[in-house]
Amino acid sequence: MGRDVDAGSTPAEGTGVVAAPATNGDGAAPLLVVEQLQAGYGRKQVVFDVDLHVHAGEILGVLGHNGSGKSTTIRAILGINRPFGGRIVFDGRDVTNAGARQNVRAGMAMIPSERFVFADMTVTDNLLLGAANDPDGDRRARRLELVHELFPILRDRAGQLAGTMSGGQQRMVSLGMALMASPRLLMLDEPSLGLAPAVVQQIFAAVRELADREGLAVLLLEQNVGQALRIVDRCIVMRSGRVILEETRDQMAARESYWDLF
Ligand SMILES: Nc1ncnc2c1ncn2[C@@H]1O[C@H](COP(=O)(O)OP(=O)(O)O)[C@@H](O)[C@H]1O
Ligand SMILES: [Mg+2]
Repeated sequence: MGRDVDAGSTPAEGTGVVAAPATNGDGAAPLLVVEQLQAGYGRKQVVFDVDLHVHAGEILGVLGHNGSGKSTTIRAILGINRPFGGRIVFDGRDVTNAGARQNVRAGMAMIPSERFVFADMTVTDNLLLGAANDPDGDRRARRLELVHELFPILRDRAGQLAGTMSGGQQRMVSLGMALMASPRLLMLDEPSLGLAPAVVQQIFAAVRELADREGLAVLLLEQNVGQALRIVDRCIVMRSGRVILEETRDQMAARESYWDLF
């Protein structure tokens, strides 16, 4: 049996020592373990001592208001911004200084909060571009089928120019593009931003299904706590570049108010 997921990842108070990473119920190690991450821009450090982990099939909510360090954390994990310090282990390998190219090849994917599609290409061509590095045609076809199953609108609008789709549909295209590369870790930066609640629900349901069906591990960055709590397994709350709380979904949902945390 694995140890308790929450207890396993809590750093010993004040010692700077990180406990051994938690295991899940199957005894499997987390897919991603981040220990004492320090990150920032140029010489300016904005992320301090961040510990987090996520297992295959698990969704970790990374909550916190604007400027709390959520995006910087995943940019450092992906390797867009080289970490100032700490350790990042992905699939059992130390990738702290691996860089984004290598991390993407190893199975990390990130979807930035700004909508990102190639506006004057069709929906299907956008999706296929997401799998451009995959030489396996059968797998590309299977992934396209999976994306169409999750978002039938992308099949219905296959030949439409992506730039003429609604905001929510374009968000589905960019999620679909990321999924075409068969990632194992998906880092979603505020996918609900600017979208109507019904669209957010549809996208979140697809993300939950991917975690359950495909074993995808997800870091879900959100300010929209209410929506996020519908699909996360656990969450951490960040403030001023630090993790100030780690709770299960049920613990978080049981709070009368979470606004005081922000
Ligand atoms: N490109 C950048 N250069 C310098 N500082 C930045 C840059 N991007 C973000 N920051 C600063 O880093 C801090 C954390 O920002 P960010 O990680 O984007 O937070 P969040 O994603 O939670 O909104 C903020 O103070 C922000 O102003
Ligand atoms: Mg951000």
